[in-house]
Amino acid sequence: MEDLATAIQRIGRQSHSTADGRSRSSTVLAIAGATGGVGTTSLAVNVGCALAKRPENSVALIDLDLALGDADVFLDTIPDYTLVDVAQNVARLDFNLLKRSLTKHSSGLYLLPMRIQLQDTSLVTPDDLHRVIGLLKATFSHLIFDLSKGYSELDIVAMQAAEHVLLVTQLDLPCLRNVVRLLMSMDEIDGLKDKIRVVVNRVGLENGQISMKKARETIGREIFKQIPNDYRVMAEVRNNGVPLVEGAPRAGLTQAIIELADLLCGGDQSTSEAATTPGSSNWLSFWPALAKARGKA
Ligand SMILES: Nc1ncnc2c1ncn2[C@@H]1O[C@H](COP(=O)(O)OP(=O)(O)OP(=O)(O)O)[C@@H](O)[C@H]1O
Ligand SMILES: [Mg+2]
Repeated sequence: MEDLATAIQRIGRQSHSTADGRSRSSTVLAIAGATGGVGTTSLAVNVGCALAKRPENSVALIDLDLALGDADVFLDTIPDYTLVDVAQNVARLDFNLLKRSLTKHSSGLYLLPMRIQLQDTSLVTPDDLHRVIGLLKATFSHLIFDLSKGYSELDIVAMQAAEHVLLVTQLDLPCLRNVVRLLMSMDEIDGLKDKIRVVVNRVGLENGQISMKKARETIGREIFKQIPNDYRVMAEVRNNGVPLVEGAPRAGLTQAIIELADLLCGGDQSTSEAATTPGSSNWLSFWPALAKARGKA
């Protein structure tokens, strides 16, 4: 059986190399939430789509959130393959097969969901994930991990592989307390401390929000980026199954997301005249359905 190093070399030769044949390094982002519902998935998807708008980028979003996997609500739009399939076939995959295993959204973003049944959680080990990340890095210019809220071993593998770990929070006390706790635990994990970036989402949500100054004092760190609250725009693009860069390219919210992508990955990622193709693929719209399903549970 072909070993991992050979597989990576082989894929690397076929994949995202520059015009002069040198292979580019890829940027890995891991996006974590201070608690559920703070906007982790919204940021992961929309930063991903902002990056994917540039023709020279190839971006994969890997969903490590197990809870999404058991949601019947998006059965219709379930991609053919999952992280489990890819992990189990690492040795056999080549560049084309790997790309074909991921579902491509019309924005250009490739999606690799976890989607495993609860009893299958052991099917992807930290070692498997390491391997898959190696292959994906050889294939894509950007990898974005939507982390689970469980801070499992897999999440930690992704965080360690990442160049930037975003910790998404909102400006309320329970969230900020979690940020403090999470930062303390993350500081103990080798190599994580210096790559954690606190992102405050939904700024301006309500009058009673804690001030940015107080938030900074509470967590003892700078805020890397503030993302404004815009429920109307966010709900609209989600209901249409399109990313912000397509559905609301001029909104302040979208601009903040593009700036975040720029800060993280450098360069001008802006896509001013983005085409709008509502409903062309619907996997993005699973979140509202999921939120509803959870609300009922
Ligand atoms: N900047 C924003 N402005 C307005 N609404 C937002 C913003 N960001 C996220 N939301 C809304 O917040 C809700 C939760 O978002 P999302 O599903 O991305 O959070 P999450 O942290 O991934 O949640 P989960 O814990 O379920 O994985 C959604 O209804 C989304 O539309
Ligand atoms: Mg989520």
